[in-house]
Amino acid sequence: MNHFDVIVIGGGASGLMCAAVAGARGLRVKLLDKANKVGKKILMSGGGRCNFTNLYVEPDNFISRNPHFSKSALTRYTQWDFIALVDKYEISTHERKHGQLFCDDSAKEILAMLLTECDQVGVSISVKADINSITVNQDNEARFHLETSHGALSASSVVVASGGLSIPTMGASDYGYKVAEQFGHKIFPLQAGLVPFVFSDGFRDISNRLSGIAIDATISVGDVSFTEAVLFTHRGLSGPAVLQLSNYWQPGQDIHLDLLPGLSVPTLLLEAKSAQPRIMLRTLLARHLPKSLVAELEPLFWLAEAEKPLAEIPDARLSDIAGHLGGWKLKPSGTEGYRTAEVTLGGVDTADVSSKTMESKLQPGLYFIGEALDVTGHLGGFNFQWAWSSAFAAGSYV
Ligand code: FDA
Repeated sequence: MNHFDVIVIGGGASGLMCAAVAGARGLRVKLLDKANKVGKKILMSGGGRCNFTNLYVEPDNFISRNPHFSKSALTRYTQWDFIALVDKYEISTHERKHGQLFCDDSAKEILAMLLTECDQVGVSISVKADINSITVNQDNEARFHLETSHGALSASSVVVASGGLSIPTMGASDYGYKVAEQFGHKIFPLQAGLVPFVFSDGFRDISNRLSGIAIDATISVGDVSFTEAVLFTHRGLSGPAVLQLSNYWQPGQDIHLDLLPGLSVPTLLLEAKSAQPRIMLRTLLARHLPKSLVAELEPLFWLAEAEKPLAEIPDARLSDIAGHLGGWKLKPSGTEGYRTAEVTLGGVDTADVSSKTMESKLQPGLYFIGEALDVTGHLGGFNFQWAWSSAFAAGSYV
C-alpha cells in the first residue's frame, strides 16, 4: 500500500498540476507537502485573485542561464491550455494591463480547480509531511525509498516541486535544492526576485516622505529597463516596474530612474524657457509630476536656481537638470529579501535536466519542476505559467 508510481514533493502550483496530469494517465500518485495546507501561494497570489497566466507568453519573459530551456514545455502546454481548463470550471476571469489574466472573484477557485483535478484521478495528498531521506535502489519499480513522517514510501518516480525560498512563512524551504545536490545537480546562486528595493543612504528619507506616491517612470539597470508604475515606500521603491527590474539587479549596482518617460526633458525645459520665460522650474514640473516629489527634487538638482525663473537659468544648466530628471541615479542597499519576494532567482541548473520531460539527466526517475529550477518569469502571470507548463511536461512522462 505504500508504493506509488509517482511521489510529488510539494503541493504548490506545479506539484498539484503535475499530480493531476500523472493521475489522469492512470498512475498511482502520492503528493507530500510539509505545510499544513497545499497551494498557499496560489491563495495569496495576485492580491488574492491569482494572476494565473498571461495572454502573451514568450520565452523572453523568462530568465534562465539557458534561455532555450523553457521553450519546449511552454509550447506543449500553453497559456491557452490553462485558460481552457479555467473555462471548463467556469471560473470568471478578466484581463488587466499587458495581457495579465486574473480571477474575477478569488484565487481560491484556481486552487479548488486543481484539487478537483487531483481528486478525480485519485491523487493521495498528505500534508504536514516531513521527508527525512530519499534513497535509490536498483529496482526500477520501487526505485526510490522515502522515509517520511507519514511512514516509509516507495515510488518509481519522484517529482521535486517544492518551489523556491520566497515567503518562508508560507512553507518555503530549500528542500528541492538539497535533493538536487544529493543527486549531483549544480545549483545556481539563489537571489530574491520580483522584490522591492531598500536604501540606506539619503534616498531612504526621501522615499519615506513620499511613501504611498506612485508615478509612471522608466527604471533601468545596465541596458534593461521597464516603464510602469514606480511606488515610493517607507524603505525605498516598489511597484511593478521596480519588481521587474529587481530580477536583473545585482547588489552594488546603480539604477536609473527616468521620471518623465516618453518626454524629451531637455526639449521640454528649453521650449518652456522660450514660451514662458517667467515660469519657475517647480511650477513647470508640477504639471508632470506630483508636487511633493518636485519639492524633494528641487534641493537635489536645482537648489541654486530654486527661486529663479527659467529665463535666468542658462541652457547648459537646464540640460544638466534635465539629465538628472531623465536619469536619477540611485543605489539600492539591497532588496526586501525573501520575506516579500514573489520568486527566487537561480536554482537547479537546467543543463542536467531534460527540457522535454523535466527528468534529471543524472538520476533516472527524478524530476524537477516549477520555481526550483533556474527559470524565473517576469511579473504578470509568467511564473504560474511556468509552473503549469513544466508540471505538464513532467506529469506526461513520469
Ligand atoms: P510553490 O511555492 O507554489 O509550491 C511549493 C510547495 O512545496 C509549497 O506548498 C510548500 O509548502 C512545499 N514544500 C516546500 N518545502 C517542502 C518540503 N521540504 N517537503 C514537502 N513540501 C515542501 N506568480 C504568478 O504567475 N502570478 C501571480 O499573481 C503571483 N503572485 C504571487 C504573490 C506572492 C505573494 C508570491 C510569494 C508569489 C507569487 N507568484 C505569482 C509566484 C508563484 O506563486 C510561484 O512562482 C509559484 O507558486 C511556483 O510554483 P511551485 O510549484 O514551484 O512552488
